[in-house]
Amino acid sequence: MRIGICGLGTVGSGLFNLLESNRAEIERKVGRDIILSQVGCRRDHPDCDLSSTNVTRDIFEVANNPDVDVLVELIGGTDVAKDLVMQAISNGKHIVTANKALIALHGDEVFSAAEQAGVSVHYEAAVAGGIPIVKSIREGLAGNTIEWVAGIINGTTNFILTEMSREGSNRSFDDVLSEAQALGYAEADPTFDVEGIDAAHKLTILAAIAFGVPLNFSAMYTEGISAISADDIKFADELGYCIKHLGIARQSGDGLELRVHPTLVEKDQMLAQVNGVMNAVMVGSDAAGSTMYYGAGAGAGPTASSVMADIIDIARGGKLPDLGFVSLAPTGILAIEKIRCSYYLRLGVVDQAGVMANVSTILSRHRVSIEALIQKDARRGDAQIVILTDEVLESEMLDAISEIESNEAVTSKVSMIRVSNL
Ligand SMILES: NC(=O)c1ccc[n+]([C@@H]2O[C@H](COP(=O)([O-])OP(=O)(O)OC[C@H]3O[C@@H](n4cnc5c(N)ncnc54)[C@H](OP(=O)(O)O)[C@@H]3O)[C@@H](O)[C@H]2O)c1
Repeated sequence: MRIGICGLGTVGSGLFNLLESNRAEIERKVGRDIILSQVGCRRDHPDCDLSSTNVTRDIFEVANNPDVDVLVELIGGTDVAKDLVMQAISNGKHIVTANKALIALHGDEVFSAAEQAGVSVHYEAAVAGGIPIVKSIREGLAGNTIEWVAGIINGTTNFILTEMSREGSNRSFDDVLSEAQALGYAEADPTFDVEGIDAAHKLTILAAIAFGVPLNFSAMYTEGISAISADDIKFADELGYCIKHLGIARQSGDGLELRVHPTLVEKDQMLAQVNGVMNAVMVGSDAAGSTMYYGAGAGAGPTASSVMADIIDIARGGKLPDLGFVSLAPTGILAIEKIRCSYYLRLGVVDQAGVMANVSTILSRHRVSIEALIQKDARRGDAQIVILTDEVLESEMLDAISEIESNEAVTSKVSMIRVSNL
């Protein structure tokens, strides 16, 4: 089987070298030769010996090359990548990609073109790098009805929250973000990661393969971690929780919840133990129960491992439905205001008698009951109140918050973080 690689950056170079080092073992698994016909890249990569490789600076040459059966798209982005993939499909080539944005935003179009051309599109590396989560849900758990999927699916945000949570750390988001950038864990423009967009792309794909619904990026509720403060981390810890940035897709009676946001997770839960840049996805299903998948969500080797698994699948033959379901169900996506969960609230108040009673009255008027409460001593005239609520409808919670914020004894915006209910 003849492959062409487009893009020779982190993942492309990892794939090139993995093919070099494991070729004999891989060919023993598939019973065919795997030939690297061509590499399309704008520049050579210092880690790759390209001396005996057919290299072109024009990636579209790979898409048009009759000696390529499988095009491996590793350039990233959505514009050129989509044109490249569509061109290759129209030329009858199978596609392997690590590009979550391409699949989350244009997957329907790409899959339908592939269907018509009789080729397949594989994207294991697009979600959680080296963790084979697409195969685990789509194939390993195929006999189950999936109830929920919850994952730490962005290493940058997990690194930042982990560092902010280190004992005695008391570091701000901005301080740790600078360190993550210096270590190469965060981009110069970190928006995609820290504002949750990257995680939302991945959750879009996970939800589609778990629930057999269309790719639905625009319906996703997305919130990043930039508003999380050192105080939030500290108070959550006092209440027995840590803060993780989770992607959650959950089938509730009223519809499908699709949400990416910071979440309080009880310290003894497995997802709370996932630290640094590591990723993990938990799946709740009716027959297998809860299963968890943990590993490196990025990096040359781990991501190349998943890309190679897709290449091996194609070499072995056979075609699965792209999202694992022959027909997709048009499930209603639940608006975030309609979800029910518990909430962590933090607010500044003037340090005077009666304020707590006022806040409690407002909460009970909106049917929000308090499970735990911490009141912190006055600092510079203000006190901080931290509240953990029982489960309540989000719209009620938001109404209560806007009434609390309009109270003259309240000196800050209310910081609200959802609590895991899985
Ligand atoms: N890095 C990871 O750990 C990881 C994990 C999971 C998924 N992914 C996904 O894998 C894909 C690749 O990521 P990466 O980290 O390997 O990115 P990267 O290091 O930036 O590599 C991308 C490569 O593609 C090249 N490229 C871009 N546009 C091109 C064009 N028009 N013609 C020729 N070459 C072009 C770039 O060349 P220049 O250097 O000249 O710009 C670069 O060498 C992305 O979709 C990403 O989301 C990455």
